[in-house]
Amino acid sequence: MRAITIKEPGGPEVLTLAEVPDPLPGEGEVLVEVAATAVNRADVLQRQGFYNPPPGASPYPGLECSGRIAALGAGVSGWAVGDEVCALLSGGGYAEKVAVPAGQLLPVPKGVGLVDAAALPEVTATVWSNVFQAVHLRPGETLLLHGGSSGIGTMGIQLGKAIGARVAVTAGSAEKLEACRALGADVLINYREQDFVEALGPDGADVILDVMGAKYLDRNLDALAVNGRLVIIGMQGGVQAELNIAKLMAKRAAIVSTSLRARPLDEKAAIVAEVREHVWPLIDNGRVRPIIDTVLPLADAAEAHRLMESSTHIGKILLRA
Ligand SMILES: NC(=O)c1ccc[n+]([C@@H]2O[C@H](COP(=O)([O-])OP(=O)(O)OC[C@H]3O[C@@H](n4cnc5c(N)ncnc54)[C@H](OP(=O)(O)O)[C@@H]3O)[C@@H](O)[C@H]2O)c1
Repeated sequence: MRAITIKEPGGPEVLTLAEVPDPLPGEGEVLVEVAATAVNRADVLQRQGFYNPPPGASPYPGLECSGRIAALGAGVSGWAVGDEVCALLSGGGYAEKVAVPAGQLLPVPKGVGLVDAAALPEVTATVWSNVFQAVHLRPGETLLLHGGSSGIGTMGIQLGKAIGARVAVTAGSAEKLEACRALGADVLINYREQDFVEALGPDGADVILDVMGAKYLDRNLDALAVNGRLVIIGMQGGVQAELNIAKLMAKRAAIVSTSLRARPLDEKAAIVAEVREHVWPLIDNGRVRPIIDTVLPLADAAEAHRLMESSTHIGKILLRA
C-alpha cells in the first residue's frame, strides 16, 4: 500500500508518499481500507520530531480515518467486511490501509458522507472526554473555548449548544468569529484585540477548554467562575508556567489536563462507546455536523500541513486516500 512517511524530522516537505508493507489486523482489530484521514496539530508535532507514536502504534501519522472494513482479525464481533466506518487511531491514518482496535470504530453517521466522516472521531472523542466526562459541563453553564474555529472548537461549540450551555469563544479574526457565531457561539472574543477575561465579564466561565497551556494559565484562572473547571488539552503557548494557588483556592476551582492518544485501549474504547451513545444521535439527526475546511489528496499531505500551520482554516482539513 501507499502511506505518507516522515523521511526525517522537519518541515512539511519531509512528508513523502511511499510504498510500504500492508498492516495486518491483530487479535481484536480490523483492517480498514481508508477513504480519508484528517490532519491534527499532533501530526505537525510528530513530523517535527516532538511527538513520537506510542509503543505499538503505526509509524505513519494520522489519528483518525474513515473507510470500509477490509478484513476482521481474530475475536472481532459486531462488525463485518464492507461496513462503512470511521475510527480513532493511535497513528497510521495517512495510508491506504490501517489496522484498528475494534473498540475504536464508529459507524458512519446518517447523512454524513464516507470521506467527511474522517473529520469526526478525534474532535468528538476529545471534546466528549474532556468537556463532558472529565469536567461535566452542565446545561446553563458557560463554556469558554479557546480557538473556537479550530477542529476542536467547531465541535465544542456544537456540543456545548446541544446540551444547553452558553458558549464563548476566542479566535484571531472577524471571519473566524463569524463562523463560530454561525455554529451557535453566544460570546465572540477576538483575542488579538480584546482581553478574554474582560470580555467574559464578572461571571466568567464555568468550564474552559484550553489549547494554549502556559501562556493562558493565569488568565484562565482569572476567567473561571467559582467552582470553575479548566481543562488543558494543548500546549501551543508553552508548557511551564507559575500557578497561583490562592486564585485556584479562592474559586474552589479545578485544573485537569489530558492527552487522548496515549490513553490505554480500554479507556479509548470507553470514550468511543460514550461518543456513540451521546454524540452520534446528535449527528444522525443533523443537530451536529462535521465542519470541513478543505479536502486534499493524500499525496498533498505537505500542502495540508502548510495550511494547518498557516492557521487560515476553519474546522478540519481532510486527506482523501
Ligand atoms: N490533548 C488532546 O488529547 C488533544 C486532542 C486533539 C487536539 N488537541 C489540541 O487541541 C488544539 C486544537 O487542535 P486542532 O486539531 O483543532 O487544531 P487547529 O484547527 O489548528 O486549531 C488550533 C487553534 O489554536 C488557536 N489559537 C492559536 N493561538 C491562540 C491564542 N493566542 N488564543 C486563542 N486561540 C489561539 C487558533 O486560533 P486562530 O487560528 O484564530 O489564531 C486555532 O483555532 C491543538 O492545540 C491540539 O494539539 C489536544
